[in-house]
Amino acid sequence: MGIHEADTAAGTGEALENLSDEIRRFPPSPEFAVQANAKAELYERAADHEGFWAEQARALTWETPFTEVLDFSAAPRARWFADGRLNAAYNAVDRHVAAGLGDRVAIHWEGEPGDTRTITYAELQGEVSRAANALVALGVDTGDRVAIYLPMIPEAVVAMLACARIGAPHSVVFGGFSAEALHTRILDAEASLVITADGGYRRGAAAALKPAVDGALAHGDTAVRHVLVVRRTGQDVGWTPGRDVWWEESLAAAADVHEPVAVEAEHPLFILYTSGTTGKPKGIFHTTGGYLTQAAYTHRVVFDLKPETDVYWCTADVGWVTGHTYVTYGPLLNGATQLLYEGTPDTPTKGRWWELVEKYGVTILYTAPTAIRTFMKWGDGIPAAYDLSSLRLLGSVGEPINPEAWVWYRHVIGGDRTPVVDTWWQTETGGIMISPLPGVTVAKPGSAQTPLPGVRAEVVDEAGEPVGNGRGGYLVLTHPWPGMLRGIWGDEQRFKDTYWSRFPGRYFAGDGAKKDDDGDIWLLGRVDDVMNISGHRLSTTEIESALVSHPWVAEAAVVGASDPTTGQAVVAFVILRADAVERADEPGEGGDVVATLRGHVAAEIGPIAKPRSILIVAELPKTRSGKIMRRLLRDVAEQRAVGDVTTLADTSVMELIRVGLNQPGRDPM
Ligand code: WT7
Repeated sequence: MGIHEADTAAGTGEALENLSDEIRRFPPSPEFAVQANAKAELYERAADHEGFWAEQARALTWETPFTEVLDFSAAPRARWFADGRLNAAYNAVDRHVAAGLGDRVAIHWEGEPGDTRTITYAELQGEVSRAANALVALGVDTGDRVAIYLPMIPEAVVAMLACARIGAPHSVVFGGFSAEALHTRILDAEASLVITADGGYRRGAAAALKPAVDGALAHGDTAVRHVLVVRRTGQDVGWTPGRDVWWEESLAAAADVHEPVAVEAEHPLFILYTSGTTGKPKGIFHTTGGYLTQAAYTHRVVFDLKPETDVYWCTADVGWVTGHTYVTYGPLLNGATQLLYEGTPDTPTKGRWWELVEKYGVTILYTAPTAIRTFMKWGDGIPAAYDLSSLRLLGSVGEPINPEAWVWYRHVIGGDRTPVVDTWWQTETGGIMISPLPGVTVAKPGSAQTPLPGVRAEVVDEAGEPVGNGRGGYLVLTHPWPGMLRGIWGDEQRFKDTYWSRFPGRYFAGDGAKKDDDGDIWLLGRVDDVMNISGHRLSTTEIESALVSHPWVAEAAVVGASDPTTGQAVVAFVILRADAVERADEPGEGGDVVATLRGHVAAEIGPIAKPRSILIVAELPKTRSGKIMRRLLRDVAEQRAVGDVTTLADTSVMELIRVGLNQPGRDPM
């Protein structure tokens, strides 16, 4: 199951100690509080768990209203609002047009090269309808799965909504994943169609995407019948006649009206793959009514959205769950005007984001701690050159935000005016679960603080007993919530084992947490073999499998070592096969082995999984039962004194690694 007492997340102990230091407090300003969407009484209203969520669900437009709220009789598989029917795209787009808001801008899009598009709700309705008709024309039926592999262009949102409009669950695969990773995901979901682009712009250049789709489908074992290709960069693409179809042509041939297909609330809306503790990614799937309820509600209260006046910007890629819930669904359900940006923060200059905030008058910014720490490193002078006074709320997600970064974010970006919301949630939870409520909560930098109204969380010890204030343990969710995952695609048993077996009857999140003296929750990082690199989830086992699939590698162990910018960084310890050892020992060749293996990981999984360092070692520390002691390797990777080695089968191995690492020709840390 992946929790090992001796192997909890790096730095947990240290983080616990630091909590006793002075905690700063930021009460909400009276001006913010008076206009806030969230009021303290929301917590009281949520005492009636089901009644509270039913009220939130009624904010959506139902084709058939629900009469049932929660059915947890087949736990852990929950059913929410099960006898209701609705359509996600209708709720995200059409109903705003029907309400007379068709001229409101839904998306301000800015491409990395500086090209722009402005899309109103009425235009979005036309585009989504055309795309839905195009999918139907290509044989996609309600219930069929569609894989989406696109850059951050408006078509990504349109594609997701077009799938939702016909009730075809989408499976978005992050554009940074390799052909191999894409292949695994297409296969697992049995997708019948892929939507991609020729490429996208990244760091000033056109980066191809279509070749990865061609590579994935070259295996010849998928159910894919068609590939819809958006022309973004104009670069040359390989073409398989009969299979490949240009998006533009197929939309041009399609009508711009389409009757949305009302589906049951429990109809799957999407699958999103995420890393677990084994080598095989998990296809987390979400259904329609509950997920949308949570997306809309959390987006409204946590970001204090005022759809008439706000310009909202979530910097996440649609390839991650944040890009699902807080780019596509949450903001559009609430009729928001949002900014979508294609490129990287440093192109063409390190001020690009702040230039965009100024240009579009962004009022709400939601991003990840790794980005914040990068901007801190680049220096205050860069944001200082722009007018950021439109900002009125800042959010953080993806990993614990260290108090220094939180305070910097509020001070330098938020001009000491803005609330900062540190939002804890997961791919599995569908939406935000633990977060301060802006205007209500007295904020504490570094803490996600309080379960939202409607969410019930606990911190428990090994035995599953709730811990008292001032103590640490494991984060569990004690009551079903509407946005909860309904399962792992095609693997019911893994769903039960992963989340529900460690603490029966409760959902185990995989995170360590501590309650402070006020009962506020501080997240302490993963307690399983899952790493968090720049807010992206990667599995140690998956990268180990990628490494050992290379003919030179006999054995590999991967750890997430703490990194000042990315939170954690991938560090791999590799034992080479005898023939490869000779190659590594030749002067100048050692680096070559490392470069080859890093490239191999990029090809197997994607560039995001490339180890920061690969250390060639002769032995790996193992327990007597043969389990690799990653805790000790983390000590080495983080250049700490190596901890308790008494459970090692061979206690001399750590000394061997230490000596080996100090030899010339090894990859420096
Ligand atoms: C894991 C989930 C939620 C969208 C992005 C990541 C970590 C996420 C926080 C936070 C501390 C956080 C947890 C969680 N995490 N947000 N505010 N404070 N940790 O989604 O890839 O499903 O990863 O990210 O460890 O379990 P994900």
